[in-house]
Amino acid sequence: MNRSLRRHQRDWEDLGDLDPCWAILAYPERRFGRWDHDEFFRSGAVEIARLTVDMQGLGYPVRRERALDFGCGVGRLTRALAPHFRHCHGVDVSAPMIAAAGKLNAEVSNCAFVLNGHPDLRMFPAGHFDLIYSVLVLQHLPTRAAIAAYVADFARVLAPGGLLVCQIPSHIPLRRRLQPRRRLYGILRSLGVDPRVLYHRLGLFPMRMTSLAEPDVRALLTAAGARVLEGRADAMASTAIESRTYYVTTPDGRAEPGEPA
Ligand SMILES: C[S@@+](CC[C@H](N)C(=O)[O-])C[C@H]1O[C@@H](n2cnc3c(N)ncnc32)[C@H](O)[C@@H]1O
Repeated sequence: MNRSLRRHQRDWEDLGDLDPCWAILAYPERRFGRWDHDEFFRSGAVEIARLTVDMQGLGYPVRRERALDFGCGVGRLTRALAPHFRHCHGVDVSAPMIAAAGKLNAEVSNCAFVLNGHPDLRMFPAGHFDLIYSVLVLQHLPTRAAIAAYVADFARVLAPGGLLVCQIPSHIPLRRRLQPRRRLYGILRSLGVDPRVLYHRLGLFPMRMTSLAEPDVRALLTAAGARVLEGRADAMASTAIESRTYYVTTPDGRAEPGEPA
């Protein structure tokens, strides 16, 4: 693992220890452990209910065997995917997140949670997943190159006729790119200051935001052999961050919806 990814992993290990649910859905009033777990998991069920409507409308994925929730956190969305797919895999870079996901979803028998510290999905064979879902994840990666590497590998592990849904900011205004709290956190953390002091006393946390422009995302998916069905503007507009959710498939050899058979 390179240095920047190792640092990124340490940041998410800290966040997973300090305040996992707030690090996932960072509503100010829920900070410092104030998420109610039922309400938190209900938000995942609502999101996946919307996804199932999209899947119906798009006609993808053509099978519902295996789903991947990439950057699963504590399994908010993995758990909600479980009624819709035979096997659901949550993958995350943070060991405390994976440990919490296992505990909080112990009763959901078709969910497995796996730690992955690699800059890609080498642990899975090509064409493995019918659905790959990833929201609120790629935006936190340290570099555009890191986002691009995962997105290209999503196309590799997506089954023919599968559906990839991934959200990526397309533009972040300069004032949001400065991220002074994250920078100060990194400096003090490297000097050995306890993460709990940084978070609880100084109000610092290590979350970063990175974007990748829409034409770049489309170009890299196309180069990886995938087909972008849609790139929808999503709901981050209120933060002045422009973001898109991409709906992507890979050719499965059948006629595409709307094309003659
Ligand atoms: C804001 S949370 C979103 C969690 C989940 N997608 C949800 O919406 O409930 C971001 C998650 O992505 C994980 N993450 C960050 N970088 C990752 C990487 N390179 N590979 C896998 N997971 C990653 C973090 O550990 C964290 O659990």
